[in-house]
Amino acid sequence: MESNKSTKRKRVDEKTPLQQKRVKLLEGRKRLPIWQKQNEIRSVLRDHDVLVLSGETGSGKSTQVPQFILDQPWCRGKIATTQPRRVAAISLARRVAEEMGTPLGSSSPASKVGYSVRFDENTSPSTRIKYLTEGMLLQEMLRDATMGQYSCVIVDEVHERSVNVDLILGFLKLLLSTRRDKPLKVVVMSATADVDSLRRFFSERPTPIRSAISTAVTADTVETDGNESGPESEASWDGLSDSEQHRAASMAEDDRCSEKSVAYCHVEGRQYPVLTRYLDSHSDDIMETTLHRIFQIHCKEPMPGDLLVFMTGSDKILDLQKIVEEYAQNLTSDFPKLLVLPLFAALSQAAQQRPFQPAPPNTRKVILSTNIAETSVTVPGVRFVVDTGMAKVKQFRIRLGLDSLLVKQISKSSADQRKGRAGREAPGQCHRLYTEAAYRSMDEHDKPEILRCDLSAAVLTMKARGADDVLGFPFLTPPPRDAMEKALLNLLQLGALQGTGRISALGRKIARLPLTPSLGRVIIEAARPEMDCLLEVIDIVACLSVESIWLNVDTEEVRERAQIARQQLAKRSGDHLTLLAAVQAYAAEQSDRRRWADDHLISHRAMQSVMDVRKQLTAQCKQAKLLLRTTEASSASDEGLQERVLKCFLRGFSGNVARLCPDGSYKTFIGNQTVAIHPSSVLRGRKLEAILYNEFVYTSKAYGRNVSAVQLRWFEEVVE
Ligand code: CDP
Repeated sequence: MESNKSTKRKRVDEKTPLQQKRVKLLEGRKRLPIWQKQNEIRSVLRDHDVLVLSGETGSGKSTQVPQFILDQPWCRGKIATTQPRRVAAISLARRVAEEMGTPLGSSSPASKVGYSVRFDENTSPSTRIKYLTEGMLLQEMLRDATMGQYSCVIVDEVHERSVNVDLILGFLKLLLSTRRDKPLKVVVMSATADVDSLRRFFSERPTPIRSAISTAVTADTVETDGNESGPESEASWDGLSDSEQHRAASMAEDDRCSEKSVAYCHVEGRQYPVLTRYLDSHSDDIMETTLHRIFQIHCKEPMPGDLLVFMTGSDKILDLQKIVEEYAQNLTSDFPKLLVLPLFAALSQAAQQRPFQPAPPNTRKVILSTNIAETSVTVPGVRFVVDTGMAKVKQFRIRLGLDSLLVKQISKSSADQRKGRAGREAPGQCHRLYTEAAYRSMDEHDKPEILRCDLSAAVLTMKARGADDVLGFPFLTPPPRDAMEKALLNLLQLGALQGTGRISALGRKIARLPLTPSLGRVIIEAARPEMDCLLEVIDIVACLSVESIWLNVDTEEVRERAQIARQQLAKRSGDHLTLLAAVQAYAAEQSDRRRWADDHLISHRAMQSVMDVRKQLTAQCKQAKLLLRTTEASSASDEGLQERVLKCFLRGFSGNVARLCPDGSYKTFIGNQTVAIHPSSVLRGRKLEAILYNEFVYTSKAYGRNVSAVQLRWFEEVVE
């Protein structure tokens, strides 16, 4: 019998490389701190509805928890695990598929693990574990408010407190008390131990239920008290008839309502000591200081290990990459080689995977990353962290009614997370490029996004999912009332809400598109027969979804070359039609697109993402019956088309219009704010009747980015 078994195992090993890899990976999984906690996690989830799980990044939460619970008797449906970023969702799904020895996503109908991110759904009919971005889970909630296919929803990285995570938590809280047909378990995971508010949030009943129950239950009493009814009632589930099952479900549900239970569990991280270094005085040129420190570490520190450098955004990362690579060429052969790898959300999928692969022999990796590598992903091999202390954050400017990206000092909690990345595999070093006093003056935690960004998308999502009383929604942190009112007004203006405040048919269509309400409105407008420019608008929207298609030009010679190359594409009406011309020319290029992009000083990488988004958006518009036309798109030079396209953008962005004033400046219609044309625009320096811009950026002054010339008469026509 034994030998039969081992022959069989041998045969399987010989046959499937996936299975072989699985066995090897199992050894690593067993060493993860969370491995020791698996029985506790299973037992706690058997007995409780909600588990709040905290543990250091890298302790194994995201990869292991779904696998621990997959075969539990209560878990017959799928397990959703949300991630704030697509790169994490994809790489986790890939990793877990390997660990389980199953193919990934749609590559096989038997695949058990898949993912769903904006513009890329990769699942199979047998998918049981699904990694999704938060936005995609919210989209699924629109299609099925009860989330009937899921037995468990795992909300990961809650400490990041994105707006989407806050919405998901609110919806799940409501769902826990209303889903009557099947039990639902919720696991909320955080890299920081600051979880009291979460425990309280889930322990307090949502308003309609609270009124029916006389005793309030606190987090701590809930954690330890009665929940025996859970496993028993579910264990006998199978033998019941449909109506009995229904009745039993209702009774079990009533039990759950009265004994809503929240458990808490903490996993100790694997953390080696990290030596922290500060600057003696503030640096005025952070790029220079970062460059200097990278080479200082590389040339003077005998300790092996890769470098992880935290920077603000892709533009700075790509600039520094170029400089580090130039300097690295002058290193003598006494030093290992340097391999510089960028890591930010807008990179193509293939490029995003490169930092995770081991460096070639005699080479040190230098990963230049945004805060994506702070907690979301674990980059192996890192022993040195260089922290610039800054991050780009979205900030709502209430007077302008717009979100803008601002470079801000990080919080202490972020700084500590960044530092922790140096000590995952062995003792490490964290080089903070700021003073110790600056560290001490940092805020303890980041402000939740819901307190600092435009809430239009959030409010539309709530309305579309039937949460009409948005001011009464169960928020972990209630957003400011004026921001909510502003969002309601914006949605009303877009036509997404009726005068009564309920969602309109148009609003429902917008909510189903994976875009902001304003861009969604532009798409819907472009699909109207009178406008008939959806294909062209999709191309432009695809460009706006990447940070920039244009490469940075830093030397005089390159700047001249760029000007000539870009003039060939530039359209007089402005950036929107110029972007369209660029996409059309790139798409028409048959022989060598990379060369075409280089010649035009356009980022080939960004264009690949644009083509990806364009394809997915086109498919979604076809599915939503918005796109009926099968003919080719019109040329960007067609003047009638230009007017129609810009009118569509006006419909979605009427708040982003500024008119020329006698003093030569532009002032917004709403808020009367001065706004200048961004230097990257083809319209820079031009004096036009009025301008429309898609994005507001604030650096040395207020700029509109992605700008086009519009006529005031169009504005009046569109806004009525
Ligand atoms: O969620 P948490 O940060 O606690 O840990 P995890 O993401 O489950 O990662 C556990 C370990 O799995 C990491 O330390 C990596 O060794 C490995 N992992 C990986 O190799 N590739 C991934 N995409 C994710 C995790």
